[in-house]
Amino acid sequence: MSQLIVSGMRPTGKLHLGHYLGVIQNWVKLQHKYDSYFFVADWHALTTKYDKTENLKNDVLDVTIDWLAAGIDPEISTIYVQSHIPEIAELNVYLGMVTPQNWVERDPTLKDMAKILRTKEGQNSQISYGLMGYPVLMSADIMMMNANAVPVGVDQVAHIEITRDIARRFNNIYNTEFFNEPQPILNHCSLICGLDGNKMGKSFQNDIKISDTAEVTAKKVMTAITDRSRMRKTDLGHPDDCEVAFKYWKIFGSEQEVSIVRSECEKGERGCADCKRQLGAKINECLAQIREKRVYYENHIDEVKDILSEGDKKARKRAGEVIAQVRELVRMY
Ligand code: TRP
Ligand code: SF4
Repeated sequence: MSQLIVSGMRPTGKLHLGHYLGVIQNWVKLQHKYDSYFFVADWHALTTKYDKTENLKNDVLDVTIDWLAAGIDPEISTIYVQSHIPEIAELNVYLGMVTPQNWVERDPTLKDMAKILRTKEGQNSQISYGLMGYPVLMSADIMMMNANAVPVGVDQVAHIEITRDIARRFNNIYNTEFFNEPQPILNHCSLICGLDGNKMGKSFQNDIKISDTAEVTAKKVMTAITDRSRMRKTDLGHPDDCEVAFKYWKIFGSEQEVSIVRSECEKGERGCADCKRQLGAKINECLAQIREKRVYYENHIDEVKDILSEGDKKARKRAGEVIAQVRELVRMY
């Protein structure tokens, strides 16, 4: 029987190249090898943004459109919305009971999120009970499908560790081997940094979105950091000290293109402005097909909604089987 993977993303609006290269591209590859379940984690969005739900519906669709455009194939993968699977909420209750409080308090990602929240003002600066439950809810997502593995970015690995601990503990307590202990699957591509050299993120305004137009992308790429010691075109450049632009070349260019850029830069035959103009065109070329597909789905939103309801149905079938087992194992009435 083929192995099953499950993964999700919070609906944070339109996705950027960090999401695409770091996670989605990996899903696209893996979907041919695994029985694949991908969902939009809209309950997880509420853990920090329960008071900002104006755009939630639209954000769910935007994330789905980005996935479909990037090549997640609804014919072979199951794409669904977390909150449409009520069994996840029920499993979350059972898992919450068996999870020691200090396991969630130790979660490093949660500690980071809490730190960010504390710097905010107002009611949302409190850490809610729901946010504390983030890793348990995430475990419910994964264990709901009794997944064997979870393809995620490195930042999520600590969560998966907790999931493995919770699965093991559930098995121990109820004297069963029902739940798999899911393994993380990491993507081996190099992480793409933001235009300013920091981590790419929507809130840092240093990102390139999958949905950006070619013009916007070209403009953004012109702001990418280069070799800071270089003032004039004829100065000899140091591609390895070129903080962002050359790194992007290595991600998007062919081996031959990268070696041309390197040698022209080192010999002072290539100015940074020209270099980045070419780079922008290169990135646009790589994304053209995805963007075309994205526009198609934007104009066929009913098709996107149909794909999600089909996925909801398939996911609920699997969830129904698992939750029936769990009730049996816990010996619920
Ligand atoms: N925490 C993940 C993120 O922020 C989203 C997520 C929720 C998830 N549940 C999951 C990822 C289950 C993998 C498996 O991106
Ligand atoms: Fe970077 Fe290109 Fe400028 Fe060299 S020429 S420093 S690779 S942007």
